[in-house]
Amino acid sequence: MGKGEIYYAVIVDREGTIIAFPDTTFVSERVNIKSLAIIEQTLAHKKNSTRFRFLETDYIGGGAVVESTGWPVVVFQSVEEAFFVVRRTRYFILLSIVVAAAVAFIISRLSIRRVVNPLSQLVKNARKIAGGDYSVTMRMESYLEINELAEDFSRMAKAIKNREEELKRAQTFLDSIIENIPNMVFVKDARTLKFVSFNKAGEELLGFPRVSMIGKTDYDFHPPEEAEIIISRNMETLEKGSLLDIPEEKINTKSRGERILHTKKIPIFGEDNRPTYLLGISEDITDYKRMEGELLNMRKLESIGVLAGGIAHDFNNILTVILGNIELAGILMERENKIQVATIIERLKEAAKAALRAKDLTLQLLTFSRGGAPVKRLASIVEILKETTSFVLSGSNVRCEFNIPEDLFFVEVDEGQMSQVFNNIVINADQSMPDGGVLKISVENVVAEVGDKAGLLEINNVTANDRPFESGKYLKISISDQGTGVPEEDIARIFDPYFTTKQRGNGLGLATAFSIIKRHNGQISVKSNIGLGSTFIIYLPAAEGELPLEKRLETQDIQMKGRVLVMDDEEAVRNVLTDMLESMGYEVEGSGNGAEAVKLFSDASKLDRRFDIVIMDLTIPGGMGGKEAVKILLEMDPEVKVIVSSGYSNDPVMAEYKKYGFSGVISKPFKVADLSKMLTEAAG
Ligand SMILES: Nc1ncnc2c1ncn2[C@@H]1O[C@H](COP(=O)(O)OP(=O)(O)OP(=O)(O)O)[C@@H](O)[C@H]1O
Ligand SMILES: [Mg+2]
Repeated sequence: MGKGEIYYAVIVDREGTIIAFPDTTFVSERVNIKSLAIIEQTLAHKKNSTRFRFLETDYIGGGAVVESTGWPVVVFQSVEEAFFVVRRTRYFILLSIVVAAAVAFIISRLSIRRVVNPLSQLVKNARKIAGGDYSVTMRMESYLEINELAEDFSRMAKAIKNREEELKRAQTFLDSIIENIPNMVFVKDARTLKFVSFNKAGEELLGFPRVSMIGKTDYDFHPPEEAEIIISRNMETLEKGSLLDIPEEKINTKSRGERILHTKKIPIFGEDNRPTYLLGISEDITDYKRMEGELLNMRKLESIGVLAGGIAHDFNNILTVILGNIELAGILMERENKIQVATIIERLKEAAKAALRAKDLTLQLLTFSRGGAPVKRLASIVEILKETTSFVLSGSNVRCEFNIPEDLFFVEVDEGQMSQVFNNIVINADQSMPDGGVLKISVENVVAEVGDKAGLLEINNVTANDRPFESGKYLKISISDQGTGVPEEDIARIFDPYFTTKQRGNGLGLATAFSIIKRHNGQISVKSNIGLGSTFIIYLPAAEGELPLEKRLETQDIQMKGRVLVMDDEEAVRNVLTDMLESMGYEVEGSGNGAEAVKLFSDASKLDRRFDIVIMDLTIPGGMGGKEAVKILLEMDPEVKVIVSSGYSNDPVMAEYKKYGFSGVISKPFKVADLSKMLTEAAG
């Protein structure tokens, strides 16, 4: 067996003794190696390679038998040498794996830092943005693409933020508009009909805070019957799928009692084309409706007025004649001083009283037809109140208690009309206490703030007109009886013309009072309790200024001097007026129309028989009336005192007589005392 650089070759004989080998000592010593696995394998003609151990060393090799001799020839190499390359290669592979793993590890660390970290930061920031926090910063160290991604992300966040702010602004704008709409705006879920949204007006109208209304249904705020009607209208709206207009919807509210609403209900459609919400808008038209009612009243009053005016005109002329003649007869008789005159005077006085009652009736009718123009004078209401009350209650078992302080505001009123108001109210009170009782009358000053209503009108029952007051000073007159009271179902109607519960009533008393107070820019209201009584409350705007000194004159005692021209188309009126004036000491001439009066006046002036006073009827059918004549007279004589007289007029001249040049006004029918007072005032 020999040892080569890499390989060894050995030849052995058939017995396994070494014949040839590089190391000749093995040959010379005839070393037998038959026991070696490689020799055994070769001898057995096995061609595969064999591993064996020889002299403490592992070898690998193969061999073949030489045919001619039968000697095996074997070639081998130490295992270490044979597998050196394989081992080296394996080493390099292992080393490469380790290096690659290390490199991969480092790269992955770097990647985590430069890719994963920025990405997870992006994810975190995305979550923050989703949560509404836009204060994220996106500056990071990473690959170009990721940095670009981060920048895009920043821009996107900014854009979202801007859009969200814009949306918020738009939402706030919309919310504040809806919130400030003075009508109730509400939204209900179309499926459950529960409230989803409410505005301020809705809160105020229903009297519940918004939070307590959201999620509730109409059954929580309205009586069941009322809620049912509302719900059925909601259903109707949703079913027909378009706006439902409810011109009048009555609801009972917690804080404001019964209100009348004009409601519009609108279905709001979702993406599936089915109603998702129900939008409602309700306008509170209670005050408007009340005013409409009043207006209707006024119209009714006006139509009565046309009729009343016609009757009253004739009636007053007749009364003027009756009253005048009776009075004159009385005066004459008193002067004659004959026997039995006293009884005749008594009779005449009775007749005059009856005529005066007729005069009151025409006054009542007239207030409807005066075209809104009371003839106002600065007056003390107390005097009118006391006079009227004592007149009405004379002979009644009703006692009157006054509570009237000093320093009351003065008012500008038509005294005749105002006494009629008190007359009507006191008569009603008297009639409501057939077994007697106490009538309490109080007057006080009040000062109202703008829109003041509840503060001024402490009336919780039904009121005739409780519209807000204009700020300013008012005189408040309360008339309280202890009578039967007005039933709840009647109370809203007692101011209507013709409403009466009395067998012989006309139902005109309170309608007249209402009309008069309204024309004085005042308010009249009532509160009543069945069995306990009623209180009528009147507010009249106070007037500035001082009350003129009363110039009460006892006519019979004062004799006037001067020339008076009387113009009236009715001869009887002319005659009685002439006689009245003559009895007072005047020199009188009469005329039937304006043109004639102007001629008489001008002739008299030329003849130096100037008229000091002219009393003229306002309108003359088919001729010149006082309204036109006064202008001509004043042109001729600016000093002349012209007094306008009328039994009935729709003309504003009566209320604003001074504007037209008249010095005074007198309403037919009148008594000698009225005439005398008028003439004195006009002359003064
Ligand atoms: N003080 C009161 N107490 C009770 N009920 C009253 C009172 N005042 C008015 N009323 C009721 O109001 C109704 C209308 O009153 P109003 O004065 O307008 O008419 P009238 O008294 O019936 O008739 P008239 O035209 O003769 O006055 C009365 O019929 C009565 O039912
Ligand atoms: Mg009455």
